[in-house]
Amino acid sequence: MINVVDGSPAAGGAVSVFDGVDLERLTQQVPTPFYAYSASAIRERISGLQHALHGLDALICYAVKANSNLAILQLMRDAGVGADTVSGGELWRCLNAGMPPERIVFSGVGKTAEEMAAALRAGILHLNVESFEELELLQQVAQAQDTVAHVAVRINPDVDAHTHEKISTGKAENKFGVSIDEARRWFAQQAAFPQVRLDGLHVHIGSQILSVEPFRQALQRVAAFWRELAVGGHALGSIDVGGGLGVCYRAGHDHPVAPADYVGAIREALAGFNGQILLEPGRYLVAEAGVLLTRVIRVKHGDERRFLVLDAAMNDLIRPSMYDAWHDIVPVSHGDRAPVTYDIVGPVCETGDTFARGRELPECRAGELVMIKSAGAYGSSMASTYNSRPLTAEVLLDRGRYAIIRRRQRLESMVTDELAADHWQTA
Ligand SMILES: Cc1ncc(COP(=O)(O)O)c(C=O)c1O
Repeated sequence: MINVVDGSPAAGGAVSVFDGVDLERLTQQVPTPFYAYSASAIRERISGLQHALHGLDALICYAVKANSNLAILQLMRDAGVGADTVSGGELWRCLNAGMPPERIVFSGVGKTAEEMAAALRAGILHLNVESFEELELLQQVAQAQDTVAHVAVRINPDVDAHTHEKISTGKAENKFGVSIDEARRWFAQQAAFPQVRLDGLHVHIGSQILSVEPFRQALQRVAAFWRELAVGGHALGSIDVGGGLGVCYRAGHDHPVAPADYVGAIREALAGFNGQILLEPGRYLVAEAGVLLTRVIRVKHGDERRFLVLDAAMNDLIRPSMYDAWHDIVPVSHGDRAPVTYDIVGPVCETGDTFARGRELPECRAGELVMIKSAGAYGSSMASTYNSRPLTAEVLLDRGRYAIIRRRQRLESMVTDELAADHWQTA
């Protein structure tokens, strides 16, 4: 990764410049807390992966759930990347961002008839179907539109991704996909679904995967099935290998898989496959390109612990509370002070509103700026207004310039759709 973060690790890991933008100066224009994303770092991730895929008929479909800001989607679009969507809302966002429909796929266990209809109307590349019931409904929806739905069957390969249980999706006990046995029955019954064309396979075993082995296992199972189908005369147009590539949240501790090794496993498993290969990375493209900038409200000296109370909270970044996730946290411009051990917390009224416990960082004082790193994925997209805290602003940085890509939510817009109970009706 290019050095978009210019800091001095020798000075306690302080980071004062990000993608050429001075962060202290930026916070004079944009009040904290806010997310800042480096466009250069995102582009670099994309081109690195595209480079590793060289020579393959491959399309990267960015998993929109990781960060669904319109400007990020436009950046993906301009880099030739497509989208993996999982809701009518994400599909709408992508179309709104000008993403070509032929680069969009739609996954998820709970697609409604309305969402299926919207996807077919838009003319997306295909839907990743996850149950027989969904297949039956899709047949009806496609028939009503007098069209043919292109479908990739999501295989649950029963592989342990060795990741947090809440983000594991490829074990038999998980709600995602169907077994190869069940998929085999679907292909045998294809004639019963004239409005649905089963012409792809899909697999996604989980997120934040830090070893190539689970990918290899899943791909080998899918590849064996693709070969079996080919022998039976059922040619596939695509194999979607899902997302899941892990990133570094904790320097010196997390060792992500190199794109060349990941793509090497794909090349090996799918050697001889003539169709298109789709990839659905989310976190890998945006996590390390984003930070959450926050100010210290105060340092509270408790009886047993010292608390660093930030102006960011669990509603802005839920990952530590939800997944016990680690994020490196560094001061922005005071890295040369002696280290102090803090519990780093937000102002929300929950003990779970804790970013880190017993974390050592250079002494911090009220009003100073702190950066929560690797926050570009599943940060802003999972945020809420809990405790009536408005959604944060988002800023895109690009080689010394910045653009505000989401304003901080106004309090009035937080309650726009709320109504006084003065119009009672009966149902
Ligand atoms: C179907 C599907 N594809 C891709 C992804 C992206 O995963 P990641 O951000 O780990 O790459 C997810 C994440 O939940 C997913 O459900």
